[in-house]
Amino acid sequence: MELLDKITELKTKILEEINNAKSSQELKNVTDTFLSKKSAFNGLMSNIKDLVGDAKIAFGQAMNKARNELNEALKAKQESLREEEIAKKLASESIDITLPASNEQMGGINPFHLITDEIIDIFVSMGYEVKEGPDVETDYFNFERMNIPSNHPAREMQDSFYITNTTLLRTHTSPAQAHVMDEKKGQPVKIICPGKCYRRDDDDVTHSHQFGQVEGLVVDKNISLANLKATLELFLRRMFGEKREVRFRGSYFPFTEPSVEVDISCMNCHGKGCPTCKGTGYIEILGAGMVHPHVLEMSGYDPKEYSGFAFGVGIERVAMLRYGIDDIRRIYQGDTRFLKQFNRK
Ligand code: DAH
Repeated sequence: MELLDKITELKTKILEEINNAKSSQELKNVTDTFLSKKSAFNGLMSNIKDLVGDAKIAFGQAMNKARNELNEALKAKQESLREEEIAKKLASESIDITLPASNEQMGGINPFHLITDEIIDIFVSMGYEVKEGPDVETDYFNFERMNIPSNHPAREMQDSFYITNTTLLRTHTSPAQAHVMDEKKGQPVKIICPGKCYRRDDDDVTHSHQFGQVEGLVVDKNISLANLKATLELFLRRMFGEKREVRFRGSYFPFTEPSVEVDISCMNCHGKGCPTCKGTGYIEILGAGMVHPHVLEMSGYDPKEYSGFAFGVGIERVAMLRYGIDDIRRIYQGDTRFLKQFNRK
């Protein structure tokens, strides 16, 4: 029958088009043409109204069979095209992880952290424990326990960022001393506490509203100023070199008695006097002293039995002197040209 031949002919043509489709888009075009109501294939259906009996049945069956065949071919082709396209995409997007990066911008370890690690290493080698205190402190720990009562003028030198009337960002790491003594409950103490401090300072080449300190505290029986001196000399010579002169000057801190300030000979002029050391030959590096009896007492240590020494050293200050950094702000800016110089190999 002529009509059945027409179905076969059309089907063969569509199958060929399906097979020739080179992309999902091309296949979609074929599908749209094949499925649309007005397509030549569906147009054949209009013949059914002129048929009767067996011929009608045979025609209907042939159309269904052809349609099924076409649908299956379409599905198979869709699948294989999809796989091909994924494979192509994967191949074009593959990354050769062995290729060297074209523009690698490596910084280095910030000198702040290099120095912190080095200070910790030196004190750990002398048997110190490393402790941490909270950045948000109470007025009580930051000042009262450090022998700075509310009417004390030393408070003004350490003005801070208050969070409430009684809590503030700590102005120094010294309150960690009180926390540790509370924790040790009258037992000997030998700790350092590295951490951040905050002061309402105007930022300039040597000041920042946020900076690092390492606090040190030793409390035991028979601790003397000689122990403090030997410890800090050893620390400073390891940090700045064996040839460094270390000088102790009498000073004042509310939480130590006696108090000292410690200087090292100027790295620029070696003690002769130059602009770097403002003509004095020495550069101030840290504050220290023998723990005030009242501080020991408030922390539950009997000052008749126990004594101790404490010190506080500014981390940026050590970094600046050690590496000749002229502006503290460079430490915080994350400029890779600056950081690159500290690439620890
Ligand atoms: N807390 C002092 C400051 O921030 C530094 C300091 C001085 C700490 C003497 C001490 C010390 O432990 O004994 O200026």
